[in-house]
Amino acid sequence: MLHNSLAIFSYLLVFLAITSTAQLPPVLDTDGQPLRRGVEYYIKPAITNVAGNLTLKNRSNAPCPLYVGQEPVASTNIGLPVTFTPIVAGEDIIEESMGFNVAFQASSTCITSTQWRVDEMESATGRRFVGVGNDNGPTGIFRIDRNNGVYNIVWCPEMVGRPRCGSAGILVEDGVRLLALDGNAFPFEFVKA
Ligand SMILES: *[C@@H]1O[C@H](CO)[C@@H](O)[C@H](O)[C@H]1NC(C)=O
Ligand SMILES: *[C@@H]1O[C@H](CO)[C@@H](O)[C@H](O)[C@H]1NC(C)=O
Repeated sequence: MLHNSLAIFSYLLVFLAITSTAQLPPVLDTDGQPLRRGVEYYIKPAITNVAGNLTLKNRSNAPCPLYVGQEPVASTNIGLPVTFTPIVAGEDIIEESMGFNVAFQASSTCITSTQWRVDEMESATGRRFVGVGNDNGPTGIFRIDRNNGVYNIVWCPEMVGRPRCGSAGILVEDGVRLLALDGNAFPFEFVKA
């Protein structure tokens, strides 16, 4: 009897191990290729005539800190490329819902890294902006989810206290388009640089 349940138990363990390592679909770039660790991509709206690619923006005319923002639709700037770094060492392909760090490949005029991280909720807007700065913690871990055929950038960490997950959308502040959680999710696509 004990023998049998042990056998079933170990069978279950093997089954769980297999299903938990099952691959999720890779996130694809606009050429249909999987996104890869360390490769540069521009992040572009998946809808036309709304805005340009993601870039670094300042707020309220303060030169620093910088935030993740979006070029306006009429801009001649093509934005800044990012690289993705999966949290799990050895993972080279970015899969849907896989945790990664993401950073602009650009130098910042502010003395910070260009790695993305979620800021505290601001009471004035009720939104959490995506700023930049070195971050090895949960606030620096993003992922890409596919919803109804479009990609969204999502922040949903495993974290004590479980703060609200959020999808990245756009908040327009003084005419500047900024990436912020807690509004409508914005659809993005990824163009290899
Ligand atoms: C976004 O980046 C891609 C890749 O460099 C470029 O082809 C495209 O024109 C850019 N989009 C805009 C609106 O600037
Ligand atoms: C903030 O950015 C705007 C353009 O986005 C620029 O015109 C302005 O000079 C910047 N302000 C500072 C203080 O850097």
